[in-house]
Amino acid sequence: MPPVNTHYRRNFRSQLVANRRINSTSIIEQQKKKWSIVIQVIKVIAAILVPIMIGAFTIIQTLQELKIARMQRDANKEQQVHDSLRVIQSRIDTVYDTFIGDLSTIVLKPNNNLTESELMFARAKVLLILDLIDERRKWYLIKYLYDNQLFYAESYNKKFINLDGADLSNVKFGITNQTSQDERKINLTGIRLSNIYLRNSSFENVLLNNATFERSNLTGTKFLKTTIQGVNFNNATLEYSTFIGFQVQHSSFRSAQSAYSSWSSVNDFHGNDLSNSNWTGTIFCDVIDHLHTSLFLVDNSFIFTNRFENVTMKSVSFVRVRFYRAKIHGKSDLSDVLFEESLICRTLFEDVCLQRSRFVKIKLVRLQFIRVNLNGSNLDMEQINKHFIDHSYLPNGTFKSSIFGVNLIQNGAAEQDVRETK
Ligand SMILES: *[C@@H]1O[C@H](CO)[C@@H](O)[C@H](O)[C@H]1NC(C)=O
Ligand SMILES: *[C@@H]1O[C@H](CO)[C@@H](O)[C@H](O)[C@H]1NC(C)=O
Ligand SMILES: *[C@@H]1O[C@H](CO)[C@@H](O)[C@H](O)[C@H]1NC(C)=O
Ligand SMILES: *[C@@H]1O[C@H](CO)[C@@H](O)[C@H](O)[C@H]1NC(C)=O
Ligand SMILES: *[C@@H]1O[C@H](CO)[C@@H](O)[C@H](O)[C@H]1NC(C)=O
Ligand SMILES: *[C@@H]1O[C@H](CO)[C@@H](O)[C@H](O)[C@H]1NC(C)=O
Ligand SMILES: *[C@@H]1O[C@H](CO)[C@@H](O)[C@H](O)[C@H]1NC(C)=O
Ligand SMILES: *[C@@H]1O[C@H](CO)[C@@H](O)[C@H](O)[C@H]1NC(C)=O
Ligand SMILES: *[C@@H]1O[C@H](CO)[C@@H](O)[C@H](O)[C@H]1NC(C)=O
Ligand SMILES: *[C@@H]1O[C@H](CO)[C@@H](O)[C@H](O)[C@H]1NC(C)=O
Ligand SMILES: *[C@@H]1O[C@H](CO)[C@@H](O)[C@H](O)[C@H]1NC(C)=O
Repeated sequence: MPPVNTHYRRNFRSQLVANRRINSTSIIEQQKKKWSIVIQVIKVIAAILVPIMIGAFTIIQTLQELKIARMQRDANKEQQVHDSLRVIQSRIDTVYDTFIGDLSTIVLKPNNNLTESELMFARAKVLLILDLIDERRKWYLIKYLYDNQLFYAESYNKKFINLDGADLSNVKFGITNQTSQDERKINLTGIRLSNIYLRNSSFENVLLNNATFERSNLTGTKFLKTTIQGVNFNNATLEYSTFIGFQVQHSSFRSAQSAYSSWSSVNDFHGNDLSNSNWTGTIFCDVIDHLHTSLFLVDNSFIFTNRFENVTMKSVSFVRVRFYRAKIHGKSDLSDVLFEESLICRTLFEDVCLQRSRFVKIKLVRLQFIRVNLNGSNLDMEQINKHFIDHSYLPNGTFKSSIFGVNLIQNGAAEQDVRETK
């Protein structure tokens, strides 16, 4: 092994030699060398740059080609989707055709001759097909079943296909695109639509006499220019539903959940039963009763023969709705109710909560308040004293009874009305 000393010395000597050489070269030579290095670097860069540029061009071109290819592919895919949709569509058409064929044996049989098993078979088939088809076809299918008398309410004593639990949401029943001259209506008299999902569906220009919607979910459903006579809405959900321009007569809304619905321009509302139903936040606007208009010379009366018992009408608005000889009773809750531009005539409020009720631009004639809570109402005593009031809380919270408190009967005619209603 060489001593460490020797190694160090050799290194030192080579450094000395290098130093001597630098000292001996001229400044010009140094400059020349510098320049040649610069030129060489430029050459190298140029040499590299050209292929880089070519490469970049190639990359751009490739990207462009890829893009075109992708667009081509997208177009192909779109075509494929379109094709497969068409295939699905034609398959649905085939399934639908087969289904209609399968049903023909049932359709051709007299209704009375249908057996339970045939109806079960039809139910299974219909429920299956309803899962496949769109809303327009669903309407055609329902119409087909109805026209073949397979979809009538129980009261018609016909055998029916039970569609409990079927989903007919968003289906448009009737004629949706009618011109004003065209008064045609689709006749769906006696149709059975019980226990069915009918959310956001619509009934337009339809006759729904004696139809049944018992227990169905009609949330957000619209009834437009539809005649509703003897219809059963018992236990149905009608929240956020809309009723515009039609008649509602002798129909039953018992235990219906109808909160936040909207009724307007209903030109014949009478003989209906609204017991135990919930109409919280509903707006009744221009709802009138034509039948009794002519009989009693009271224009636009409302709730003449309608049954209001144990009804929840919290925060309901009655706008331009006239009450004539109405009876609102049986623990009905009308707190925060608004009566606006309305006439309330010879109407009985019995066992009713009218807390915080607001009466705006209204005319009150011969009213009776029996066991009524008017606490917080905007009615003033001058108005109230014109009517019969008994066992009730006044707007200032004071309890008044005609026996033990001040006798508030001021209007002689009111007494007569009390006897009349008893
Ligand atoms: C229907 O049933 C009756 C007797 O119940 C029978 O006479 C008639 O032939 C049946 N009709 C058909 C088309 O099956
Ligand atoms: C409604 O009527 C218009 C013109 O009358 C027509 O162009 C449109 O296709 C119709 N829409 C439907 C859903 O029938
Ligand atoms: C609607 O159909 C029922 C039978 O389903 C019929 O009694 C009634 O007369 C029809 N109404 C109209 C206006 O055509
Ligand atoms: C009904 O319509 C409302 C509002 O347009 C929407 O929020 C809701 O999801 C719809 N419901 C159904 C079952 O289509
Ligand atoms: C009815 O449908 C609405 C909307 O889909 C839903 O929120 C509600 O729970 C349903 N009500 C009943 C009683 O099924
Ligand atoms: C149809 O309703 C009317 C009352 O609007 C009633 O007299 C008639 O008996 C009902 N018909 C059936 C089959 O339910
Ligand atoms: C509503 O449904 C409840 C529970 O199923 C039932 O007890 C009640 O009789 C029904 N009300 C009406 C009016 O059909
Ligand atoms: C009042 O109606 C509610 C449903 O809104 C029901 O639960 C209750 O039993 C009814 N009360 C009477 C006394 O009918
Ligand atoms: C009435 O309906 C509203 C809205 O759905 C609900 O909040 C309220 O509890 C219901 N009231 C009764 C008495 O059923
Ligand atoms: C409430 O009003 C009645 C009738 O005007 C009056 O007799 C009674 O003193 C009032 N009560 C209060 C606490 O102001
Ligand atoms: C009347 O309303 C007021 C405030 O809203 C409340 O403090 C009072 O207890 C109510 N009185 C009665 C009898 O309900």
